[in-house]
Amino acid sequence: MSKHHQKVVLVGDGAVGSAYAFAMMQQGLAEELVIVDVIKERTVGDALDLEDALDLEDAQVFTAPKQIYSGDYSDAKDADLVVITAGAPQKPGETRLDLVNKNLKILSSIVQPIVDSGFNGIFLVAANPVDILTYATWKFSGFPKNKVIGSGTSLDSSRLRVALGNKLDLDPRSIEAYILGEHGDTEFAAYDEATVGGVPLKDYAHNKGVTDSDLADIEDKVRNKAYEIINRKGATYYGVATSLMRITRAIFRDENAILPVGASLEGQYGLDDIFIGTPAIINASGLAGVVEIPLSDDEKAKMANSAKTLKQVTKDGLA
Ligand code: NAI
Ligand code: 2OP
Repeated sequence: MSKHHQKVVLVGDGAVGSAYAFAMMQQGLAEELVIVDVIKERTVGDALDLEDALDLEDAQVFTAPKQIYSGDYSDAKDADLVVITAGAPQKPGETRLDLVNKNLKILSSIVQPIVDSGFNGIFLVAANPVDILTYATWKFSGFPKNKVIGSGTSLDSSRLRVALGNKLDLDPRSIEAYILGEHGDTEFAAYDEATVGGVPLKDYAHNKGVTDSDLADIEDKVRNKAYEIINRKGATYYGVATSLMRITRAIFRDENAILPVGASLEGQYGLDDIFIGTPAIINASGLAGVVEIPLSDDEKAKMANSAKTLKQVTKDGLA
């Protein structure tokens, strides 16, 4: 069977979008990458710049996108994936939720023309507040819920694993631990179910002299890491670009990978009518299923609190 020609339309060519486009070039997943932004000149310039980002000594060079160009929403007609990174980022001192009104407005101007193009692929949303914008993408598009995925707590879960890896002197890839809930201030680490080499993470940590208080400090630093980066350099982008790339790969390679994403819940964790961070199975169909972590009572309360916050802001924002 010949491989399907895979096409991505990237909407939003700012710090996050261009970092994702560069990651696409490095991974060589899609054959065609179209860049759309209200600042047209920037997308033309970025396409020209990115087409030179080839390692000519690398035998894999021809796996890089063969076509990369500045386009518009009509290019989504035959795309497999639309990635939305368009939207205002936080300024120092702002929360993600503070962006809701302006970014919902931007989102509503994007989703409709994409749907009108005849697009029939998968939406992947990263613009903040991402859980609310993912929900709104689903609402505005009328797409089935499995065709709308948010970056959710993917970046936060990477941050958690990196921080735990540093503390426990382990490769972060060997740590199975998730941040759940809102991609934002009410998120939490599901430590009670986290594992390291099949051993409960807390037992492993205690044996190494790492206390619950140390773990709570790590959770707090992860929750606030974006603020720390934004205060220093004004934006975060490499981390989320890599998270988006990982989700893209799971879709394009039909991996059935379990990844933390922003997924629609239908009864899991006692919640519905919400997109929120949880592990889920990702394959070529989009979101193939939510993996519900059996949370402890304390964690259930944190998930409920996160959901309550998101629902309230969603209700106000979409009213
Ligand atoms: P940026 O300001 O560098 O880029 C945003 C881009 O969106 C700009 O190029 C702008 O021209 C474009 N844009 C604005 N309105 C548009 C419209 N109607 N149609 C098309 N393009 C439009 O911002 P940055 O740093 O790239 O952040 C983008 C978004 O991603 C923000 O909302 C930010 O909070 C979010 N973000 C999400 C993360 C996550 O983990 N989900 C991590 C980091 C950022
Ligand atoms: C991040 O977590 C700001 O949502 C963005 O890096």
